[in-house]
Amino acid sequence: MAGEFKVVVTDYIEADLDWEREQLAKRGVGFECYQLKQAPEEEVMRLTADADVVVVNMVKVTPRLVDSWTKCRMVIRHGAGYDNVNVQALTDRGIVLEYIPDYCQHEVAEHAIALMFACCRKVVWGRGVFDDSVARGEWDFKPIVPMFRMAGSTVGIIGCGRIGSLVYRKMSATGVKLMVCDPYLSERTREELNIEPVSLEELCKSSDLVTLHTPLNDETRGIINAKSLSWMKPTAYLVNTSRGGMVDHDALADALKSRSIAGAAIDVFEKEPPNSDFPLIGLDNVIITPHLSWYSKDAEQTIREKILEDIFRMIDGLSPRIPVNPEVLRASK
Ligand SMILES: NC(=O)c1ccc[n+]([C@@H]2O[C@H](COP(=O)([O-])OP(=O)(O)OC[C@H]3O[C@@H](n4cnc5c(N)ncnc54)[C@H](O)[C@@H]3O)[C@@H](O)[C@H]2O)c1
Repeated sequence: MAGEFKVVVTDYIEADLDWEREQLAKRGVGFECYQLKQAPEEEVMRLTADADVVVVNMVKVTPRLVDSWTKCRMVIRHGAGYDNVNVQALTDRGIVLEYIPDYCQHEVAEHAIALMFACCRKVVWGRGVFDDSVARGEWDFKPIVPMFRMAGSTVGIIGCGRIGSLVYRKMSATGVKLMVCDPYLSERTREELNIEPVSLEELCKSSDLVTLHTPLNDETRGIINAKSLSWMKPTAYLVNTSRGGMVDHDALADALKSRSIAGAAIDVFEKEPPNSDFPLIGLDNVIITPHLSWYSKDAEQTIREKILEDIFRMIDGLSPRIPVNPEVLRASK
């Protein structure tokens, strides 16, 4: 089987995929990799047509693309979300979707926490870094006035799954009060952390920091919009390390300009990189990072290993590690 087996990577963020090529070659697996993020769909169709496994980062997996495949049995989304993949189209064709939700939970939780601390302690804030101002001979805390005590404040976590629950655990030691909005909270997490979830409205109204950790789907798209922003306190901050689509950025820009909330720290955008006229760029009460919450040298290696593990498991006839659409597997039995 391995002789004709072919893996095609549509787009990737690593400097190269030589390690993957080498590992797969040892098992006689064919390997091609491209950078098709901006390519027309026809080109993606042509280059993935006879793949057994397609690995995608940001390329959109549409029903049309799925229909063009002749052999594909598994798609692996390189990352912890899969909102660029039409899951139904894959399920209809009996193709399993794997994703890698377990490579960077600590990194994202730590980044969200770093952004919350940055908002509260303003170590970096808006376009300013104190290190620079001290180097210029300035010695002044007035640019960050007013600032409030973080201990005793309330942190609202929207979505308390892998990452949100880590934020909860790590923040538990900091003296803040924690609040969770998660209508689908697992019983296990509810019991382990003794959480009584609240509504979105109650969380927004009560929190000094709101941090987003849900998947992007029809229910969560635009969950932070003009209405939910209007519930937030004028002293509150919003942190988003989940997916850009969760936030209506025009409404957020309005709230930030009118100071109806105090600030925001944003790692993820609907279009990445955002256009230069993106409404949050240049505001003095925003911190922006370029979708790097996931990154550490360790996480980068972990995801590569897990993707190869998924491919080898399939070749060896083992069940996928974390399938998004396990009904495909049941149907094929
Ligand atoms: N910025 C990055 O680099 C980066 C890296 C990894 C993951 N992420 C993103 O982080 C987010 C969280 O990932 P995860 O692995 O913790 O996901 P997860 O599936 O483990 O947890 C998501 C949680 O959200 C809850 N949820 C679902 N719908 C909800 C709703 N309407 N309201 C409130 N809660 C809801 C679920 O019940 C679940 O507990 C995803 O959007 C993922 O794409 C971002």
